[in-house]
Amino acid sequence: MRLDKFLADMSFGTRKEVKEIIKKKRVQINGNIITKADYKVSLDDEIYVDDDLIEYVEYEYIVLNKPQDYVCALEDRYYPVIMELVDTIRKDLVPVGRLDVDTEGLILITNDGQMNHKLLSPKSHVDKTYYVEVDAPIPADAQEIFSQPMDLDDFITQPAKLEVLSETSANLTISEGKFHQVKRMFEKVGCTVTYLRRDKFGPLTLGDLELGESRYLTEDEISTLQNL
Ligand code: URA
Repeated sequence: MRLDKFLADMSFGTRKEVKEIIKKKRVQINGNIITKADYKVSLDDEIYVDDDLIEYVEYEYIVLNKPQDYVCALEDRYYPVIMELVDTIRKDLVPVGRLDVDTEGLILITNDGQMNHKLLSPKSHVDKTYYVEVDAPIPADAQEIFSQPMDLDDFITQPAKLEVLSETSANLTISEGKFHQVKRMFEKVGCTVTYLRRDKFGPLTLGDLELGESRYLTEDEISTLQNL
């Protein structure tokens, strides 16, 4: 990998900024000052910027508590994007799936493409739990209806688990993540979703993350996801 890409990936700045760092002779590799941005680094090189030894972190895994009015995209014309809330300038991080602009809650962000693909694959059946508020009383048979395959016109749902909390609020666990799935399931039983928050994604929970806050996954969480 090129030295400038390596330093940009490690959050030392944009490609332009890291070229400046290199030009200013602040980078040493295996004891030699390196001034070429296209110098090829390898993973066993000892790379220092000033007095700091830089360890290459290939994959990052971040969990964000997404507020409403942010979109799960890399750029958008109308809304701010969730990446603005994450304290990194790595350019290769992407959200695992999407939450609607008016949905809050847990979204995983990573540059591990294989993990992203696996978690989104319908075959993986990763459970996602949503807290839902609706505008009308949840029908008594909703639990039974959601536990059976439902025809949502363009697809048939996998059985889902509904835990009714009050006349107009519930937790719903689904193992897929089709476009507007939760809202569409509730529409089918005569309720419009007025508030939606994802509390769980597989083994991950929001814990005490405030809205708009993010944190890195622990090693345990990463290996649990890898072994799903
Ligand atoms: N289902 C929805 O309807 N919206 C979301 O944001 C997530 C799941």
